Amino acid sequence: MHGKTIVITGATSGIGEVAAIHLAQQGARIVFTARDKARADVTMAKLRAANAAAAHAVHMGDLSLLADMKRLAGEIGQEPRIDVLINNAGALFYARRETRDGLERTFALNHMSYFVITNLLLPKLKRDARIVSTSSGAHRRAKLDFSDLQSCRGYSGLPVYSKSKLCNILFTRELARRLAGTGITANCLHPGFVATRFGDQSGGIGSLLVRAAKPIAGISPEEGARTILYLASSPEVANVNGEYFYECKVAGPTAEARNDADAKKLWDVSAQLAGLG
Ligand SMILES: NC(=O)c1ccc[n+]([C@@H]2O[C@H](COP(=O)([O-])OP(=O)(O)OC[C@H]3O[C@@H](n4cnc5c(N)ncnc54)[C@H](OP(=O)(O)O)[C@@H]3O)[C@@H](O)[C@H]2O)c1
Repeated sequence: MHGKTIVITGATSGIGEVAAIHLAQQGARIVFTARDKARADVTMAKLRAANAAAAHAVHMGDLSLLADMKRLAGEIGQEPRIDVLINNAGALFYARRETRDGLERTFALNHMSYFVITNLLLPKLKRDARIVSTSSGAHRRAKLDFSDLQSCRGYSGLPVYSKSKLCNILFTRELARRLAGTGITANCLHPGFVATRFGDQSGGIGSLLVRAAKPIAGISPEEGARTILYLASSPEVANVNGEYFYECKVAGPTAEARNDADAKKLWDVSAQLAGLG
């Protein structure tokens, strides 16, 4: 990865931070986003320790807000080239809240940030670039109801999170279709159930359950980051496009996640919501 520039969201914690540090150790320069200055400083110190020769960079913003997604993409878009884009920031919320854009916040953060950042950075991705998006096996519980994308009816944290992770796979599918023949690839992954900070701030009883389950059933962030690293750097997947991976292997997502009509529709609706033509 020597000399490569890797953009990653959600690198201040968990599997994103581990992936960023490993890629820096392999020689990459890391450009990451953060919303908390203190956590950004800690991650930056780790990246410098991993690869002091590279001028790693951080851009601050809240990825649940359309204005911040666009500003961050504009700032990162000043990079002369981007070799790998890793969409990874995400969260689960047990209470429904809308962002100032009128979007349900899980949908905004987990899906719209991937959509907006990727679309606005596409001009900087050249032949051989890779787009890697962190989805989840939680998508298996989800169906997409276009009449209630913002989950106004009967909100429940886990189903809404699962729906956003289904969106990640549908987004990757349509993106891969659009990228066919360009030499740029787009793939997504399930990292496994990983003992990160994930769920700690989700609120409610669900948060307590996730916290309790992590030490028992969770894999380490090192293990959880393996498939991200594989998709970002392995020559084995240089020409693989539009797939969903688990444990560094192509896995079969649900029929809902393989619905091309839904993938196209989600793309069009997302472009409209984001005000991207
Ligand atoms: N852990 C699991 O079991 C699991 C399973 C399947 C999929 N995933 C997915 O893996 C990805 C990474 O999660 P993780 O397990 O590593 O969790 P994590 O430790 O909580 O890390 C989440 C990252 O996203 C960032 N983030 C959250 N909300 C943000 C916002 N509004 N604006 C900007 N950045 C924001 C966090 O920043 P802060 O440091 O500021 O909080 C952090 O860097 C997520 O997409 C998650 O859905 C996780």
